[in-house]
Amino acid sequence: MGEDAGGGHEFVVVANRLPVDEVTGEDGQHRWERSPGGLVSALQPVVRQRGGAWVGWTGSAGEAPEPFDIDGMRLRPVPLSAEEVDQYYEGQSNATIWPLFHDLVEQPTHRRDWRRAYEAVNRRFARAAADAAAPDATVWVHDYQLLLVPAMLRELRPDVRIGFFLHIPFPPVELFMQLPRRRELLTGLLGADLVGFQGALAAQNFLRLTRLLAGLEPKDDRVEVDGRTVVARAFPISIDVAEVDQLTADPAVQERARQLRTELGGDRRLLLGVDRLDYTKGIEQRLEAYHDLLADGEISNDDVVLVQVATPSRQRITQYQQLRERVEREVGRTTGEFGDVGRAPVHYLFQSFGRAELVALYLAADVMLVTPLRDGMNLVAKEFVAARRDEQGALVLSEFTGAAAELDDAFLVNAHDTDDIKRGILEALNADPQDLAARMRHMREQVRAHDIDYWARDFLGVLGVPGAPPEAREAA
Ligand code: ADP
Ligand code: G6P
Repeated sequence: MGEDAGGGHEFVVVANRLPVDEVTGEDGQHRWERSPGGLVSALQPVVRQRGGAWVGWTGSAGEAPEPFDIDGMRLRPVPLSAEEVDQYYEGQSNATIWPLFHDLVEQPTHRRDWRRAYEAVNRRFARAAADAAAPDATVWVHDYQLLLVPAMLRELRPDVRIGFFLHIPFPPVELFMQLPRRRELLTGLLGADLVGFQGALAAQNFLRLTRLLAGLEPKDDRVEVDGRTVVARAFPISIDVAEVDQLTADPAVQERARQLRTELGGDRRLLLGVDRLDYTKGIEQRLEAYHDLLADGEISNDDVVLVQVATPSRQRITQYQQLRERVEREVGRTTGEFGDVGRAPVHYLFQSFGRAELVALYLAADVMLVTPLRDGMNLVAKEFVAARRDEQGALVLSEFTGAAAELDDAFLVNAHDTDDIKRGILEALNADPQDLAARMRHMREQVRAHDIDYWARDFLGVLGVPGAPPEAREAA
């Protein structure tokens, strides 16, 4: 795959975000930083390896820079005005669709002006994709910010092959039906040739919806629309195992892991949480469970310490601001009640880190806590497993993550039930080392056999892209 003589790309990825964010430093200088979130972590190696173009937003309002190259990828920025950031990104995408698709963990807001902006921005992305694609190219559209793009793109470019992948859960029919203009959203997705989801249930929800909302007759994993076939299937996303391998083999990373352990109090067991600061991640419930374990005397500040990394995210949205206040209050409460001078029970880091520092944290941890109330997949869980070549460490994992379907050797918990999180943490802390090693071995086999390259080849193979062998799925 690559660029043809006319400048069009044979492989185009379209996502709300580019893999890098434009940030302005304190010195007023512009620079590029890796964008937050699992979508970028997962797609970057896929595009880098295939040498395609990436159509997306830079994360800043205003004019977009000219297309540029980074790391073997051609980036084609799409501009968003400040009002569009407000209405399309923070509004319709992240205050309507995000909470509704995550089972109403927070209440969605419905606004006509947000829907209008969403449609206008989706049209702009579709045009940008149409401009980037060579004749008969493959265009792969991603995630809930761009649900209308497949149909819009098909209208502009009936020659291209269109894939769509949803990185977050697809809700049950009764929830989707609450969305105003729900039919347009469904029709938008049906513009694709292949619609991919994180799990089988999501694909089923979608196919049921085509019957209910569009009067279509889905059969197995496909449905006929205007004489075309649309396939809907699960493709559980994964991580770049080779990248994690490289980092864990790096002596500097191993040394940093040892240093972190010493600094956090030598023989104390280290519990770790790493999340975007998002209300879907169950951070409050996790902190509450940890507080209660200390209060019950089941664990003590002399024996354990919790490091909670919370990456800043969507900070202008009220629900995220309120969450931050609640989380910081809970950290303060636990520190106040159970801390000693020079020895805190919780280290809360509201920061982004480089990959090496994150992997050092994974290596240093005894128990990784991944307790979302709802999550399409959760890559942090898979990164932790991939990092533990020593086959040590325990994973406490919410049943409500896509990852739980594959990592059933984790200590699975109901993340809505603080008592059950407490049980999971205690079981993980008290587990027999041999049992832990066996669990970790199984989980590592699963992740290593199904890495991000497997995922991309599987999806593109089913989409019928030349050079992406369909045997990937048969070999599963
Ligand atoms: P989501 O996509 O909802 O943010 P995931 O767990 O699927 O959740 O993906 C999060 C990604 O972001 C992972 O690749 C993880 O390594 C990365 N990440 C999380 N926290 C940080 C942080 N503080 N600094 C840098 N990267 C982070
Ligand atoms: C999740 C979503 C992505 C999104 C990421 C970060 O992974 O599925 O589409 O890019 O979160 O969120 P942000 O709003 O900062 O792009």
